[in-house]
Amino acid sequence: MSLILGIESSCDETSVAVVEDGSRVLSNVVATQIQRHAVFGGVVPELAAREHLIALMPVLEAALRESGTTLQDFSGIGVTNGPGLMPALLVGLNFAKGLSAANNLPLIPTNHFIAHIYGSFLDEDLTILKESSTYPILALVVSGGHSSLLLINDDGEARQIGFTIDDAAGEALDKAAKLLNLGYPGGPVIQKTASRGNPKAFNFPRPLTGTAGKATPPEHKYNFSFSGIKTALLYHVKKHQNELSEDFISDTAASFQEAVVDVLSRKAVAAAREFSARTIILCGGVACNQPLRDRMKLLCPHQTTLRIAQPKYCTDNAAMVAGLAWHSLQKIEPALGVDAFARLPVITRVPFISGL
Ligand code: KG4
Ligand code: ZN
Repeated sequence: MSLILGIESSCDETSVAVVEDGSRVLSNVVATQIQRHAVFGGVVPELAAREHLIALMPVLEAALRESGTTLQDFSGIGVTNGPGLMPALLVGLNFAKGLSAANNLPLIPTNHFIAHIYGSFLDEDLTILKESSTYPILALVVSGGHSSLLLINDDGEARQIGFTIDDAAGEALDKAAKLLNLGYPGGPVIQKTASRGNPKAFNFPRPLTGTAGKATPPEHKYNFSFSGIKTALLYHVKKHQNELSEDFISDTAASFQEAVVDVLSRKAVAAAREFSARTIILCGGVACNQPLRDRMKLLCPHQTTLRIAQPKYCTDNAAMVAGLAWHSLQKIEPALGVDAFARLPVITRVPFISGL
C-alpha cells in the first residue's frame, strides 16, 4: 500500500488530497475562492495566489485529519506544476517543496491537464488500465482553460487530435454568463438558467462543424472555436436589448448551452468513430454539465465505453493529482529544482499507462 499526498493550486481552488494506490480517495479537501473572484467576473491571478497562501495549511490539516494520516505515512507528494496561473501555481509548488524537504518525501511534479483525464479513474478498479479492450481511449477534456481531444494508446503514447483555436468551452460559458448578468462562474449558472429555457429558441452558430453552409478546413476537423458563439451572443443581446425578460434570458442560456454541448459531443463522437476508440472519457470542469453528460451517453457508439468523471473529480481537485502522481512515483528523479509552467506543452505520453 502506498499513499500519495496531492496538492492543487493552479487556478481558484486550493485542494489537498490523500489517495491510496492511485485510486482510493481517503480525503479530498477543496477550498474554493469563487466568491473572492466573483466581484471581478473572473479569476485574478495575484488574488488567487494570496488566497492559496492563506488556505493551504488549514486545507492540508483537514485532509490529514479526514484521512487519519500523518506526513510520515506518505510515499511522495504530487503537486500540480502546470499548466495554470503562474502566481497561483508557484504558491502550491513551493508549499509542496517545503513539505517534501522537511519530511524527506519525493516531490512528484504533475500535469494538471493529464490529471483531469485521470479524474475518471478515481475510486475505480485500476485493472481496466491493463486491459487491451480499453484502448484506444479518446479523452474530451473540457474546462475553463482547455477544450481538447486526446487519443491515448495502450502503450501510453498520446496525441492531441483537437484543441480550441480561441476560447475554451468553460471560458465561453463564463463569458456568456457575464454578458447575461448571471454571475460567476458561468457554467453552473448557465446550466441552472438554461433548465428553465428552450434550447431550440435561438440558433447559435456551431463553428468548425461544417454547418451554416461553411465547410470545415480539414486541419480543423477536430478543433473547436467558441469565440464566434460568444460574439453571436453579444449581437443577439444587443438586438433584443428592449426585451430582456426572464424567459428570454432562460431561452438564450438554453440555446447557448445547446450550441456548446452540440459541438463538443458531435466532435468527440466523430473522432471516437474515426479512431475506433474503445473508451471515451469526459472530464474537466465543464464535464459537470448535465446536458453534456446526457448527450454523450446518448451519442456514444455501442461498442465504446463511456467514462465520465464523477462531478467532484471534474472541477479542480487534488485527488486527481495524487492519483496520477502515484503512477509517476517509480519513474521520476526526485528534485526540488522543479519549475512551474503556464501553458500546456505538447502531450506525447500519459504516465498512467505504461504498456500492457
Ligand atoms: O476544471 P476546472 O475546475 O478548472 C480549470 O481547469 O479550468 O473548470 C472550470 C470551468 C469553469 O469555466 C466553469 O464555468 C465550468 O468549468 N463548469 C461548468 C459547470 N461546472 C463548472 N460548465 C458547465 N456546466 C457546469 N455545471
Ligand atoms: Zn482544471
